[in-house]
Amino acid sequence: MAEKAAEYHAALDAVLELGYCALTEGANGMDVVVQCLTALENDPHFNAGKGAVFNDQGVVELDASVMDGATLKAGAVAGLQHVKNPAKLARLVMDSTVHVLLMSDGAEAFAKVQGQEFVDNEYFLTPRRKEQYQRWEANKKNGTVGVVVLDREGNVYAGTSTGGMMGKKYGRVGDVPIIGAGTYADNQGAAVSCTGHGEYSIRNNVAFQINARM
Ligand code: GLY
Repeated sequence: MAEKAAEYHAALDAVLELGYCALTEGANGMDVVVQCLTALENDPHFNAGKGAVFNDQGVVELDASVMDGATLKAGAVAGLQHVKNPAKLARLVMDSTVHVLLMSDGAEAFAKVQGQEFVDNEYFLTPRRKEQYQRWEANKKNGTVGVVVLDREGNVYAGTSTGGMMGKKYGRVGDVPIIGAGTYADNQGAAVSCTGHGEYSIRNNVAFQINARM
């Protein structure tokens, strides 16, 4: 519907403007990735953070990742149910641990130590998603959010955040927190953030393959 499309374009334009202004002022590219992903997670239009799809138990489980193309450092989180902004936590995994991927309860325990904002799972639920869940539309578009950045120094960065797929199996992890599947950044190639049916991106290592071809 044209009216709905205009609403989505306006939301995307606002985030694009936010990132572009920050980069123009010389902001760090990773700061911009996380700032833009956070804005998208807080916007109920998208399948990330508030407004994310439900799993087969009617609960929201969130995945996110970020990657720095200059250093190949990366951070990711999977299966979060209470952390308001998974992208911020993915960045903390990258910056404050020796690991790349933390999941579910362990990731949330880490979030607590890092002082991240917690919300009830109901915070993420929106009337639109409740309705979709009731209909459980198998062919629904995903609406995962992604941000890729090229900063003034020529470094590239990527980040992705999602609720996954409507009706996914409890515990299912998609491509988004798998570095090389849903997210990849390398100054030698490209910054990539994928959307779509994550199992295909995992099987084909899509983000890395696109980078390698670039
Ligand atoms: N690409 C989002 C997902 O499959 O989880």
